[in-house]
Amino acid sequence: MTIKALVFDAYGTLYDIQSVAAITEEEFPGYGEIITQIWRIKQLEYTWLRSLMRRYQDFSVITRDSLAYTLRCLGLKDDPAVFGRIMEKYLHLDLYPDAKATLVAMKDRKLAILSNGSTDMLNTLVRNSGLDRVLDATISIDSKRVFKPSPETYTLIESNLGIPRAEVLFVSSNPFDACGAKAFGLNVAWIERVTVQAMALACVKSDAVPPLTMFKAIRMQMDELGLEPDFRIKTLADLPELLKSMA
Ligand code: LAC
Repeated sequence: MTIKALVFDAYGTLYDIQSVAAITEEEFPGYGEIITQIWRIKQLEYTWLRSLMRRYQDFSVITRDSLAYTLRCLGLKDDPAVFGRIMEKYLHLDLYPDAKATLVAMKDRKLAILSNGSTDMLNTLVRNSGLDRVLDATISIDSKRVFKPSPETYTLIESNLGIPRAEVLFVSSNPFDACGAKAFGLNVAWIERVTVQAMALACVKSDAVPPLTMFKAIRMQMDELGLEPDFRIKTLADLPELLKSMA
């Protein structure tokens, strides 16, 4: 298998979406974790609902709307300045610690992002984190006006990079995205950040499951969609080794 390009999902794969928890906790002490989890769960849900309803709004709108939903359902005060400070973190998300070094180590291939993020928010995030110096392309699904895992979104890889799907390795930690990419016909490496065993262990006392564990159970375990990623890795840093084994 010749892999000429590695294409990464952004939120949750290169960027740690859980890193919003510091600011949500600072603004709403005691609520940081539940805000963080409901926000992300609803954000993804809105991408699927809007795609199905054919009522596209870009990801920055969806990210705002899902945060508004979260604060409302928790009965928290909707103060525009607080809201703005929390939203701002989406433009400064933490990279996973191994992200930059891993990308640099694979610079001999084409490297890109394909994300649900809107063009503006993605470009700002990529610039703020310094990945603009490493990536060959940052591709937003915006032009298709539909979100992943719609097959149309994955066509943007070939149309932007000029590399056919058989020569692309798509990397995502989001199970829905790994399945979508596989269904489309890409080679897929899924980052399994929470193993089945760790998950089961964390849920032993089911009446004491914290919001983050619930999130891991519904958004970080492989889905039952009859689609298997080609590769399962534990972390981004496993990629160079995986590429070597494929050569
Ligand atoms: C993205 C979402 C799926 O970056 O996390 O596309």
